[in-house]
Amino acid sequence: MNCNHLRYAYQTWVYEADAPLAAIQSSVQNGFMTDTLRPNSLDAFWMPFTPNKAFKADPRMVVRADKMHYYTPEGRAILDATSGLWCVAAGHNQPKIVEAIRKAAGELDYAGNFNMGHPLAFEFANRLTGLLPDRLDRIFFTNSGSESVETALKIALAYQKARGKPGKYRLVGRERAYHGVNFGGMSVGGMTRNRMNFGPMVSGVDHLPHTHDITRNAFSRGQPEHGAEIADVLERLIYLHDASTIAAVIVEPVAGSTGVLVPPRGYLQRLRDLCTKHDILLILDEVITGFGRLGAPFASQYFEVRPDMITLAKAINNATVPMGAVAASREIYDTMLASSETPIELFHGYTMTGHPLACAAGMATLDVFKEQRLFERAHEIAPYWEDALHSLGDARHVIDIRNLGLIGGIELEPRPGKPTARALEAFRACFDKGLLIRVTGDIIAMSPPLIVEKTHIDQMVDTIRGVLQTLE
Ligand SMILES: Cc1ncc(COP(=O)(O)O)c(C=O)c1O
Repeated sequence: MNCNHLRYAYQTWVYEADAPLAAIQSSVQNGFMTDTLRPNSLDAFWMPFTPNKAFKADPRMVVRADKMHYYTPEGRAILDATSGLWCVAAGHNQPKIVEAIRKAAGELDYAGNFNMGHPLAFEFANRLTGLLPDRLDRIFFTNSGSESVETALKIALAYQKARGKPGKYRLVGRERAYHGVNFGGMSVGGMTRNRMNFGPMVSGVDHLPHTHDITRNAFSRGQPEHGAEIADVLERLIYLHDASTIAAVIVEPVAGSTGVLVPPRGYLQRLRDLCTKHDILLILDEVITGFGRLGAPFASQYFEVRPDMITLAKAINNATVPMGAVAASREIYDTMLASSETPIELFHGYTMTGHPLACAAGMATLDVFKEQRLFERAHEIAPYWEDALHSLGDARHVIDIRNLGLIGGIELEPRPGKPTARALEAFRACFDKGLLIRVTGDIIAMSPPLIVEKTHIDQMVDTIRGVLQTLE
């Protein structure tokens, strides 16, 4: 067995049915494996949001990535139409970001930020404020979008108390929202399956209706015409609960995980106006819309709606090291600091808050965004993306197409009695044909890296058309 063979066996032992025994034994001797691990087993890793049984019976693996592509163990290129999970905005294995992580790891592996600090976290927070809307310039670092949402909700409640309004404790989310998987985010979220098995949720939460209206808005290009008035339901909730009990409203500017729901024209402005009128905080969850996805740094600038807090994650450092953040307004931060009765103003934080590697990766990512003009690029190529997507309007099974910036959604007619089955088949068939898409319900959702070229877009559309043609 030559060296390459051995390395390949080691890399692939978990799923290659006939991984040579000698390679496994050698790995054990070298301390790579423990008694409990067995070759050829995919059992130990409980995969998230995945049908584990089905996946493990027919796994799809990637071992490497570069720019717009993933590569399978056999070397097959898979064009990434989803930026991983909406997160690899600058393309895969971006050399400058990889190098920044290497360098940081060699200099300061870890330092906490409780009662001590390291320059990278302060520097990165400062750098972020240069991109964020005016006065949204107090940054709390987390490790994921879910944690960013929990953090923002907790800050909202603590802030209301700090300003002498502890009765403002309710949180308002929206149907068909995804704000991550922790208890606060799940509670303000609006995805039935994500909520139904996990008990009574956080109390004091209510929901706005979602804005998806296929009867009036099907095949809208960009923002749909109809539905701004759906924001007015907030007045009904205020009538029911009274504004004096409501701390904050949280929405995704564009709902991604529930199938690309683009806000109707004027909707977000209306929501902002109502929140201002009734003294309620507005939190925009920009975990997917942040960092150029719409062709502006943040959706908040794209829609010209200034929230009180923005939640971030994913593309914050090109998804290289787990990280998220909350950008809070200066008013919130100053109030919390001024009115605190204890030296610590916010009893909240994570061991990994502001991790040196994540911050170093984040700053290199901001450099790449700037040097490659990636937000402008997204803006420039968005019309081509829109035309290409809408050319699928006559493809088989398609009942709606939606787009904004470099986000696209293709809604398929559900198979009678078998919702989601058709989209899942489309996902598998696309992967086999060298294209990674994402499906949610019966919707194909796409969000390519901002380095995407027109030829890539053509390949995405051609592959999807071909696949849909073959599906029952
Ligand atoms: C809008 C939004 N908020 C929060 C999250 C949760 O982020 P994470 O998976 O990093 O916890 C996501 C993830 O897709 C998201 O789309």
